[in-house]
Amino acid sequence: MTDWKRTICCGELRKSHVGAAVTLNGWVNRRRDLGQVIFVDLRDRSGVVQVVFDPETLGAEQFREAESLRSEFVIAVQGRVVARPEQQVNPKMATGEVEVQAERLVILSEAKTPPFHIDRAEEVDEAIRLKYRYLHLRSRELQEAITLRHRITASVRSFLNREGFLEIETPMLIRSTPEGARDYVVPSRVHPGNFYALPQSPQLFKQLLMIAGFERYYQIARCFRDEDLRADRQPEFTQIDVEMSFVDRDDVMDMMEAMILHVLEEVKGVKIPSPIPRLSYREAMDRFGSDKPDTRFGLEICDATAELSASGFRVFAETAASQGVIRGINVKGGASFTRRQLDQLSEQAQGWGAKGLIWLAVEPDKVRSPIAKFLQEEELEAIKRAFAAEAGDLILMVAGNYDLVCDVLGRLRLALGKELGLIDDDAYNLLWVVDWPLLVYDEDAGRYVAAHHPFTAPLDEDEHLLETDPGKVRAKAYDMVLNGVELGGGSIRISNRRLQERMFAALGFTMEEARRQFGYFLEAFEYGAPPHGGIAFGLDRLVMLLAKRQSIRDVIAFPKTVSASDLMIEAPAPISEAQLKELKISLKS
Ligand code: AMO
Repeated sequence: MTDWKRTICCGELRKSHVGAAVTLNGWVNRRRDLGQVIFVDLRDRSGVVQVVFDPETLGAEQFREAESLRSEFVIAVQGRVVARPEQQVNPKMATGEVEVQAERLVILSEAKTPPFHIDRAEEVDEAIRLKYRYLHLRSRELQEAITLRHRITASVRSFLNREGFLEIETPMLIRSTPEGARDYVVPSRVHPGNFYALPQSPQLFKQLLMIAGFERYYQIARCFRDEDLRADRQPEFTQIDVEMSFVDRDDVMDMMEAMILHVLEEVKGVKIPSPIPRLSYREAMDRFGSDKPDTRFGLEICDATAELSASGFRVFAETAASQGVIRGINVKGGASFTRRQLDQLSEQAQGWGAKGLIWLAVEPDKVRSPIAKFLQEEELEAIKRAFAAEAGDLILMVAGNYDLVCDVLGRLRLALGKELGLIDDDAYNLLWVVDWPLLVYDEDAGRYVAAHHPFTAPLDEDEHLLETDPGKVRAKAYDMVLNGVELGGGSIRISNRRLQERMFAALGFTMEEARRQFGYFLEAFEYGAPPHGGIAFGLDRLVMLLAKRQSIRDVIAFPKTVSASDLMIEAPAPISEAQLKELKISLKS
């Protein structure tokens, strides 16, 4: 066959094509040899169709070739589309009403037996799937995830282009800065002993682009962070990075909300009413014990500190006296939890740092609890009121300092939400978290550090506290959260030099130190900086959530393991003596 190129894709064939002569190209997904005839499921990017090789139509020589076909051979087939007999229609396949009666076969490429069947990749160890990533990528799920990623990126681009944003690239080889996560560094050959850093984000460059007058910038930007990895973190990942000039907080949030809603509608057909909820950081912590609350289910946190501050139960009284809080969750209908379940929850809570987990099972005529005997009847009633508890409910309480209690209850809430099946997997709960603290005290460093980054502006009404009560200053920062995952975060930047100096002072930098680290950046602000602000979304996380996958590795074509290795290309790897010499680097063993 000289003309082996496809006339139609495998997955496109339908009943309406019956009688048509077609040429297909693709991979042998599965082959069933029934002796007299051979059935092959032929796969290309569009899907799978059944091809029948029959010696009657194919001739003896070609049939012998068909007998040699194995999984993952790449072939071209010419043939005729025929309707499958009624009883052989496969309703599970999009092409299940038809098959192709092969008339000619060309083997374009043979294949070794693959280390796993493409359709059953989940059955082998992840290390094998990553080593043969190009094979795993042939699977339907990954083809769909990567296609979805493309559609999301295209949708983002079309939205931002329409709104007058310019896509501008920023450098990959930059200068290391001490704030933020650890940098990946690259040695310079031309400047021995000097190193570039790979960007953790294009932050400073995008601000410089605002100073340069571009007004609306975006970039689908690769970022690199040498940090401990989790299911939603990779050492190299992609941001949808945006910056705008002459704007305040609402302008950026409104524009970005419109962008995400546009993507959800265009790509998933999901229409979400705007505006999406806005929660202050404080409210998010108070109600959900998390700065990225999952609001797809209830189990909100209730406070009983005031009711129990004068309690005869020592733990409560001492907590209240030391400015701590007594909070908890009402698990509706949870009074029937077994002792074992309760012990497990306590263990979990202790693992997260709680001194203990107090439980109270509300029964029609009494409250059953290990601490019931220490509490007055009025206190039990007050607790029930604080938690709006009814007979059949289970109250779970933690006492301690605010941050710890929020953290433990936030985790407990999520664990219970999952365990009790309260989470609607089809829901898309989007929200903004605003009014973040500008600074957080770092015990190890013995100073305040920027909660977001040192260029984030404080709220106007809190600016006067920068010197007197830095921990109380709130930032013009915002995070977008989708189903309990931080999708993106950004802020209005400081665009006034005096305020930037005060911010550095609050961070414990002298102006000389600040100049040494960010001199070029601070200088730029002396040449006319417009008010500006922006945001960056984690593209991988967005795709992961829309693809309903559990890990961002599933939506990145060539991801790294949790120990930041690429098992396919075997990176990182040693470099040769000659390369080291050229870089004037000597290694200590
Ligand atoms: P931030 O550090 O919050 O902000 O990052 C923005 C978003 O990027 C995603 N993200 C990650 N995704 C995968 N793997 C990682 N290791 C990883 N780290 C972050 C998250 C996060 O919300 N320059 C600022 C943004 C700005 O102020 O404009 C920045 O980088 O989804």
